[in-house]
Amino acid sequence: MTYSVSQLLTQDIKLQPIEIKGWVRTFRANRFIALNDGSTINNIQCVVDFESTDEAILKRITTGAAVHIKGDLVESQGKGQNVEIQVSSITILGDSHPDDYPIQPKKHSFEFLRENAHLRTRTSTFSAVMRLRSALSFAIHKYFNDNGFYYMHTPIITGSDAEGAGEMFRVSALDAKNPPLTDDGQVDYKKDFFGKETNLTVSGQLEAETYAMSLGKVYTFGPTFRAENSNTSRHLAEFWMIEPEVAFMDLAGNMDLAEDFMKSVLSYILEHNREDLEFLETRLLDEEKTKPQAERSEMSLIEKIKFVVDNNFKRVSYTEAIDILKNSKPNKKKKFNYIIEEWGADLQSEHERFLVEKHFKCPVILFDYPANIKAFYMRLNEDGKTVRAMDILFPGIGEMVGGSQREERLDVLKEKMKALDIDEKELWWYLDLRKYGTAVHSGFGLGFERLVMFATGMGNIRDVIPYPRTPQNAEF
Ligand code: 4AD
Ligand code: MG
Repeated sequence: MTYSVSQLLTQDIKLQPIEIKGWVRTFRANRFIALNDGSTINNIQCVVDFESTDEAILKRITTGAAVHIKGDLVESQGKGQNVEIQVSSITILGDSHPDDYPIQPKKHSFEFLRENAHLRTRTSTFSAVMRLRSALSFAIHKYFNDNGFYYMHTPIITGSDAEGAGEMFRVSALDAKNPPLTDDGQVDYKKDFFGKETNLTVSGQLEAETYAMSLGKVYTFGPTFRAENSNTSRHLAEFWMIEPEVAFMDLAGNMDLAEDFMKSVLSYILEHNREDLEFLETRLLDEEKTKPQAERSEMSLIEKIKFVVDNNFKRVSYTEAIDILKNSKPNKKKKFNYIIEEWGADLQSEHERFLVEKHFKCPVILFDYPANIKAFYMRLNEDGKTVRAMDILFPGIGEMVGGSQREERLDVLKEKMKALDIDEKELWWYLDLRKYGTAVHSGFGLGFERLVMFATGMGNIRDVIPYPRTPQNAEF
């Protein structure tokens, strides 16, 4: 029978004839194959009898080759593993051409592996990261399913700009070299595929709101796209976002939901993905050793995750945060690139990081932001100048979640759209929600890759998505 490496290492199937297929990680002393098939971070040792094995075959057992092994699972004689396979026959399914196979058994830089992203999951680090990514996706769906949410597929192609930031990728079937023009020389999108201008969505929120106002509790989890030219370690042009939306829930309920949700999915991986987390933790500790003492992290990866799971997120209003920042050392000593002078300033990532990493040293939920630095759909507070927005900031990551209570009052929303020059005709259906059975409702968006960064300790967002899309880069 054919088994996976994970089955062989964890189940009690000793001394049986078994079969296994996988890729050679290393082959040493013409005798010991470390075999991996992706089912676990661990390799299984396969012991080849070189006297009875064809020399031509032995030569073809090289790092990266795909092999089919038959043999017996026995207790291991050597150190480092409990069981091993005594190989009775080995077939080379695919040679690996050792002269130019890029993934040699040595340390490769993440930059090099990014250029070889189609092969990088053959390394322990990237296979662990991508297994965790998969487990987190599952945990997310499980959380919502267990809590009475419906999974909704919001459109990828859209005619509206949900965030009003204008950073969108156009979707068009027009001939780019020779587009039809209107009388006044503009591109005539009426003649385009959809009869109007369309883009890749920046968020599924607006459509999710329509379903929340009938199904009650919904969420979307899909790809979103932003044409912002920010070449940072935390931004992608294509990223995945989880967006729950709930009827009759206010901002306080939204904070409770976000906190419970994040704790739940992180507990899931602590319980189910221990070996991958331990591997990544060791990798990080090695990396930390190369840093000066002062920059080293006080907690290991698993400790950091546990800390988030076991402690309350700190809830702080924007106004309080501005006071803390104004009086902070880096602000007074002009160490920030953007000095905080007065209430109303937009927070930059340096400020967010100061709050979570230096001041509070835990995840922070900032709420009640000034209306004019946030999106049009957020619920205006009684003070007339702040909105019921919340951002969740994480140590090492910065902004992980952005959400709000939504403006449910038709007249206030119309007023706001007018002030921001948002065409009512474009969002007639969104306004209808406020006309027919409107109610308090709230939701948030969690950037999935930022969660995966936190859970794996990876420092660059390009290393937690299979094929990153960033400015000047859409390879694979
Ligand atoms: O704060 P944002 O822009 O919020 C929204 O889009 C709302 N419509 C969500 C909602 O209320 N339903 O984005 C939400 C999160 C951010 O907090 C961040 O984690 C992530 O999405 N994000 C990005 N992740 C990677 N690359 C980018 N370019 C990102 N932009 C936002
Ligand atoms: Mg945001």
